[in-house]
Amino acid sequence: MTKTNNSYPLQTINVGLESNSYSITIGASSLSSLGQLLLRKKCITNLRILVVTNVDVFLPYAEKIINSLKDQKIHVECLVIEEGEENKTQATIQHIHDAAFAHSLERGSTIIAVGGGVVGDMAGFAAATWLRGVGIIQIPTTLLAMVDAAIGGKTGINHPGGKNLIGAFHQPNLVLIDPSTLITLPQREFRAGMAEVIKYSIIGNPELLQCLEQLKDLSSLESINLNSLKAILRYSAQAKSQIVVADELESGLRAILNYGHTLGHVVETLTGYNTYLHGEAIAIGMVAAGEISIILGLWNETLQMRQKELLDKAKLPTNWPLLKIESVLECLQGDKKVQNEKVRFVLPTGLGKLVIKDDVSSQTIISALKKMT
Ligand code: NAD
Ligand code: GLY
Repeated sequence: MTKTNNSYPLQTINVGLESNSYSITIGASSLSSLGQLLLRKKCITNLRILVVTNVDVFLPYAEKIINSLKDQKIHVECLVIEEGEENKTQATIQHIHDAAFAHSLERGSTIIAVGGGVVGDMAGFAAATWLRGVGIIQIPTTLLAMVDAAIGGKTGINHPGGKNLIGAFHQPNLVLIDPSTLITLPQREFRAGMAEVIKYSIIGNPELLQCLEQLKDLSSLESINLNSLKAILRYSAQAKSQIVVADELESGLRAILNYGHTLGHVVETLTGYNTYLHGEAIAIGMVAAGEISIILGLWNETLQMRQKELLDKAKLPTNWPLLKIESVLECLQGDKKVQNEKVRFVLPTGLGKLVIKDDVSSQTIISALKKMT
């Protein structure tokens, strides 16, 4: 463990990839010593940095970061982009590239993303494509981005035909997680991030499962003490990075991160992306995957109940919404995870054990969803 300026200990997780290894550093109130950290860890190879952030996080956090970089004589410019998934477009990438050009970023320069997954995915994609790749540092400020989006190098934007259809793998030079940025995060966003945390506890981290089961309430930052929060962040980051290290480019194992996503995406799509947050839809999708597994004799009611209790403690939705079954089956066929025209489900078979199945019958899906309404 190392100490920041403010004497808060930093925890570090190493993402040991064959090339492009990097660390995930977790430390409360660490943003104001970012400049020193970057120089000490040799995360930057030249002193030109473009910070990309959005209006929600600029004032509380990005400004602190910019000042800490300036203190170290780093030449920094900041681009504040529009908030929201609807702006995860080519037009915003053009703005970031314009700012990179105006600030004369070179091959060895770095973009720093400060924000949730939307900012991180876009700044990462802009970094992957500017000069065929400049550095990217991820400073996530939502729970979802801290445990998922900022780790693993998936970057991208949306296409009118679907979410995240355009993208690139581009691993960051550093991920810096400062849990104190969650103070300003709306509670509903916090809960949505907790769905991904619960996902890791089911798909592969027993310590995380134990930690979550011991806590009475998972629905807000206030209900979790700082030590538990840091443990949750550490276990989740470890869970994701282990999977990424084993399968960086998603040729196999990494697909288990899509647990809950097959039917979760159906919920998001059929409700027009404006009723459920991604994490809320994933919560419903995990329960649905569990129900399918029970019908197939792969999972049992006790484990399903344990999963549901965690989701309930986070006040996440677990019932199947009123959606026409024909639309559900049709939407499944349009899923990004369809391979050779077969819908792929990631199904639980035990704690930390999953199977990928592409032969789940429509009847099984219908029965599982009926149980959830
Ligand atoms: P988001 O980035 O839209 O952030 C949610 C909201 O919270 C936004 O309004 C944002 O401005 C605001 N916000 C962020 N931090 C804040 C803070 N500390 N205080 C106050 N407000 C704050 O949403 P998200 O859930 O972080 O990310 C979702 C995106 O991440 C999606 O586009 C999804 O596709 C992507 N994603 C990517 C990966 C990956 O591996 N790259 C994984 C999961 C999700
Ligand atoms: N969020 C899924 C992945 O990173 O693979």
